[in-house]
Parts: sequence; C-alpha cells; structure tokens
Amino acid sequence: MSERTPFIVGNWKMYKTVMEAREALTLLRVAVRDVNGVDCGVAPPFPALDVCADILAGSHIALAGQNLYPEDEGAFTGEVSAPMLKAVGATHVILGHSERRHLFGEDDALIARKVKAAVDRELVPILCVGETQEQREADETVAVVTTQLSRGLAEVKGAGLPNLVVAYEPVWAIGTGLSATPGQAQHVHALIRDFLGDLLGPTNAAQIRIQYGGSVKPDNAAELFAEPDIDGALVGGASLDPDSFAAIVEAAAR
Ligand code: PGA
Repeated sequence: MSERTPFIVGNWKMYKTVMEAREALTLLRVAVRDVNGVDCGVAPPFPALDVCADILAGSHIALAGQNLYPEDEGAFTGEVSAPMLKAVGATHVILGHSERRHLFGEDDALIARKVKAAVDRELVPILCVGETQEQREADETVAVVTTQLSRGLAEVKGAGLPNLVVAYEPVWAIGTGLSATPGQAQHVHALIRDFLGDLLGPTNAAQIRIQYGGSVKPDNAAELFAEPDIDGALVGGASLDPDSFAAIVEAAAR
C-alpha cells in the first residue's frame, strides 16, 4: 500500500448556480463528514466560490478554482488570478484541463505560466494531462503525457513540489461514460510517476498524488483506486450529485 492519502476532487465545470452550489455542498459536507483516510475537494464555478468557502469552513473539504490567469491583476477581461482565488479561500486550482486545452486553445507554455503562478501564490496545482483517442491509437500516449508534464512543469522544476497533484485524464474518457480500465490507467500512472522521478527526484515523485479522471462513477471507483499508482480521482459528471460523489470518496477510503 502506498502512503499517499487518496485525493478526490469534484470538478463541477460550468454547472450550478450559487443557490444550487449551496444546496449540493451542504448535503455533501454531511455525507462525507465521517469518512476517514481520504482527502477531498470541490471546484465550483467562480461565482459560487465565496458561498462554498462559507459552507466548507471548519470542514476538511478543500476548495479549488477551475482555472486562473498567470498575472496577479491587470487588464485581462474575464480572467481570475491566483491571489483572487486565495482571497476567497481556495487552496487548490485545476490547470491544463483538456477542455481548457481543446476548447479554449491553451498551450503548454501558458499552462506552465499558470502552474508557476499557482505555486508562487501557494495554491496547489492539479495539473491535468491526457491523450486524445487518435493519439492513443497512434501509440502516442506516453509521448503526449510526458511532454505535457515536462512543459507544464518547466517553470517550477525542482522548486519543492511534493504537494503537486497530477490528474491523468484520457480525453476519450472524459464525459463519455468510457472509463479507462484500471489496467490501462495504472499503466500510464506508473509511467507518469517514473517520469516525475526523473524530473523532480524520486522522493518528490513518491509523494505526488496522481489522480485518474474520465467517467469515474461510484461503480467503477473502487477498482480504479485498488491500483497502486492511482491516488484518487478528478470527477466531473458524478461529482454533481452529492450522493454519488460521496460514494466515490468512500470507495477511496476503503
Ligand atoms: P467526467 O469528467 O468525470 O465527467 O468524465 C472528468 C473531468 O473532466 O475532470
């Protein structure tokens, strides 16, 4: 068994108004209250962060941003900075999600600046990497994932990153109901850990939590978490319902 505490984060994407977020998180807080041996967090849309921080006060559920812009402030219409996330109580931030990469054109250089901004402002980055279906079929999974990692971490290498979180999210598994099999995911997770060892040193690599993301549900979570290098999950669709998210958190605790 690894000594890494599993970490489950709910990525709410562009779902839930402030009122809906309040309702869901109030239920979730109660549902995971007595679950031990697992860390969890939620990443609500920006307008709901403040209300969510209030609901989470005194709980062990972490609050995460879904993105940031790598400047502290300025004329960047529509963007949110690391200090703004910190000020509202966020401790983590999802960066390089495939929807940011593919729908909003974010490249590795921009993501690297975001990772650096997060680390500089003491927000824990949850750096997402993953291959598309075409890349997997062309046998490029390892090359894609390691390139995303080395470029994404290019500006922070060696800067004491043991609490970095990496999320391996095969693009073909996100929101499709087609999860990677535990074996497929473990194979890539082990490669990621090896690669992080080369990049950041084996001690850091052994501490870094590598989440799996892509159609994680209550009924496939336990078998994924049984794999030695799968340290939890980044959960989209199934995190919107407090009961199903709590069931995934419980699966990680066992
Ligand atoms: P999904 O999304 O669980 O709905 O597949 C995962 C993610 O995009 O983080």
